[in-house]
Order: sequence, then structure tokens, then C-alpha cells
Amino acid sequence: MRLTPRYFQNMSKMLDFYSQFNPSPLSIKKFIDFGLNASERKSFIFLRKELPVRLANIMKEIALLPENLLRMPSVVAVNDWYMRSFQEILEFEKKEPDAETLEHFCNELVKIRNRHSDVVETMAQGVLELKESHDVDHHTEHSIQYFLDRFYMSRISIRMLINQHSQLESAPGPNRSKYIGCIDTQCDIISVIKDAYENARFLCDQYYLASPDLIIDVFYHNECEKESGIQIVYVPSHLYHMLFELFKNAMRAVMEYHSSEDKYPPINVTLSKGKEDICLKMSDRGGGISRSTTDHLFKYMYSTAPQPSKSDAHTVPLAGYGYGLPISRLYARYFHGDLMLLTCEGLGTDAVIYMKALTNEANELLPVFSKTTSKFYRTIVQTGDWSNQAAVIGDRQISTKMRSHQLPQSCDESLSGTGAL
Ligand SMILES: Nc1ncnc2c1ncn2[C@@H]1O[C@H](COP(=O)(O)OP(=O)(O)O)[C@@H](O)[C@H]1O
Ligand SMILES: [Mg+2]
Repeated sequence: MRLTPRYFQNMSKMLDFYSQFNPSPLSIKKFIDFGLNASERKSFIFLRKELPVRLANIMKEIALLPENLLRMPSVVAVNDWYMRSFQEILEFEKKEPDAETLEHFCNELVKIRNRHSDVVETMAQGVLELKESHDVDHHTEHSIQYFLDRFYMSRISIRMLINQHSQLESAPGPNRSKYIGCIDTQCDIISVIKDAYENARFLCDQYYLASPDLIIDVFYHNECEKESGIQIVYVPSHLYHMLFELFKNAMRAVMEYHSSEDKYPPINVTLSKGKEDICLKMSDRGGGISRSTTDHLFKYMYSTAPQPSKSDAHTVPLAGYGYGLPISRLYARYFHGDLMLLTCEGLGTDAVIYMKALTNEANELLPVFSKTTSKFYRTIVQTGDWSNQAAVIGDRQISTKMRSHQLPQSCDESLSGTGAL
């Protein structure tokens, strides 16, 4: 690929063209119907338009980022990956969907998925590079947070599409597994909870030489579900990702808060299934969080944990990157669920994950590029129209502890979510 002015002109035209279209959100039901009935050819025809649309929508937002952030080497690298992938998919715009093209397309998608596997860390690194080299004002900080939520959500959705296509079964039959791509049609929530708990506990034992127990309670909306347990049609890797992050947080809080004792209160997980939602509440008695810091919990890079050391780059740290909560909330929101924290200082924290119980309501939540979006990046945040507590308490202003260390590349599955994707 030669990066001539003509190339950039052409790319910019294509970006304008594809970003005019809104992404088409799919529900879990649609993903399943598609996986069961659609041919690879049909999937190809859908994706060769939908992928460039999703890419172009988010690439237009990248272009709106503050100039000095766009110049950071890591952001330049991410931008370059997106440009390349966008162009590679466009190569299929007019191709006949014959066997050779279909195979080539599938290989290209896998190549693109691999190319983008470090996007989360690299983008985070870009933001750190900006913070280290420039003063970042409140408005810029706010735009970056807004952007990262949309950018990472777009990435989750693009990976979902690629995974579903590359795992299309060639010969559906009676022995079909319960998986449609990465969707488990009979996802056993309890076993995902246990799995995430065991893996978090392993890390907790390594750090603290002990760990809290787990107690699971289940409430059924309807009696006949008692037999089969609570099952959901969901992407188990997404659920696992959220639970693993919440368990790590809960365990760390419990172990720190009760560090002078030799008994640790257990972590309680309550699972309930209603008509609309499946709710999963994780309660810890780890002392909770002060109300003045709760505003920061979902900020990228907010962490109260010590910075993971670079020499441990090959191991998974229990905490410290500050990506656990914001990325987990994106996974929950991706299919119109949610993730919330309710905390009582001095006692503990309840984290609740909501998932849509009905597959036709579990629709993708996707960022759409529009005039309103572009205004957001330019508008200066209005000054508050309520008096502000900080003015009264003066010195007791909260200092958001933003990490200022290098993020190791692809060392941490829990950060990148690559395990989940
Ligand atoms: N259950 C909890 N109890 C107490 N504090 C919590 C809990 N969950 C999250 N936090 C606070 O929120 C911060 C951000 O969490 P997270 O996004 O997972 O990043 P990290 O775990 O890497 O610090 C934590 O550093 C901690 O201060
Ligand atoms: Mg965490």
C-alpha cells in the first residue's frame, strides 16, 4: 500500500461515504437466527458493508480527538491499524462471493482481529503519553472518557461480528453444539460464576495468601426453572470478563479491609431471573467506597491499587490498571444490560450486573457518528449551576489517581478483554 496524497484523498472519500450510514445493531436473537440459517455467502454480503460502516463511524470520531492526542505515537499506530483494516475490507466491495473470495475474506478477518488485539492497551498508552507530555484540561479529560467508551464499545461489536462469521458452522445438523459462534444458547450462569471466582481467587491467594469464600443464592421467577438452573442465551466470555473483574475488586477490598484479622467475610453472589432482566448481585464486606470517589470508579485509569510492576509484565495483576470497571460496564451495556455499583462506606459494596432475559431485547448498543457527536467534542463543558462542595472543603479536593506508568503490551488479558473476545 503506497501512502500517496491520492491514497489519503480516496480513503477520506470512502470514510465520508460509509460513515453516512448508521450501524445496524443486531439482537442476540438475530445473531442466532443468522448463525442457524444464513449461509457464509449471506454473512459475507452483510459484513462487507456493515464492517466498513462500523469502522468508518468510529474512525470519524478518532479524527475529532484533540490534535495533540492524535499526534501521540500510540494513537498514530491505532489510527494506522484502523485505516489498513478499513481498506482491506473495502477490497471486497465488488468481488463475486465465490468460494475463493469467501475463504480469502475469512482469512482477512482473522488477520484484522489479530492486528487489533492490542488496541485497548495501545490506546490507553496513547492517553498516558498525552498526560505525560501535556497539561490535560477538564474538557479534554471529559472528551477522552466519552470517546474511549464509544471506541471500546465499537471494538467489542466489531470483534463480535468477526467471531460470528469466522465460526459459522459449515454443516448444521442434529449434533450441532449449543454454541452459535461465541454465543452459548444454554449458558449456565452458575458455572461461569464459579469459574471466574476460582481464577480471581487464585490471584488473590498469590497476593494475600488467603481469600474470601463464595456463597451463591439463586431466586427463580418461576418454579420450573429450579430443575434446569438459571440459563441464559449469552456470550459466556463477556459474562466471565465482568465477573472476573468484579471478583478481583471485591476480593482486594475484603482482604485490605480485614487485613488485621485472620477471618475474612465471604463474597455473596445473588442471582435472580425476572421477566425482563437477569440480575446478578455481588456483595462484599470490603469496607465500601467513599461517596466522594464513586464518581471516578468508571473512569479509565482510575485505580487506588499500587501500580503493577513492569518486571511482572507476564503475570496478571489483581488490580492497578483502572480498566476493570469501565470495560466491564461496556460488556454489560453492549446487549442493553448494565453494571452498577452501590456502596456503603464502612461496610461494603454491591455490584449489580443486569442482562436482558429475552434474546430479542438483547440488542447491540452501538456508537453512531452524527452531527451531535461532533458537537460534543467541540463544546466547552458548561460551568456548573449548583454550588460545588470542593469550594467549601478547599484542600480536601479529590485527587483522581491516574496511572502514569507504561502499560505492558498484551500482558494482561483482564485489561484488553482479549480473553473475552
Ligand atoms: N468492591 C469494591 N470495594 C471497594 N473499592 C472498589 C471495589 N470495586 C472497585 N473499587 C475501587 O474502584 C477502583 C477501580 O476499579 P477497577 O476499574 O477495577 O480498576 P483496578 O481494579 O485496576 O484498580 C479500584 O481501584 C478501587 O479503588
Ligand atoms: Mg479491578
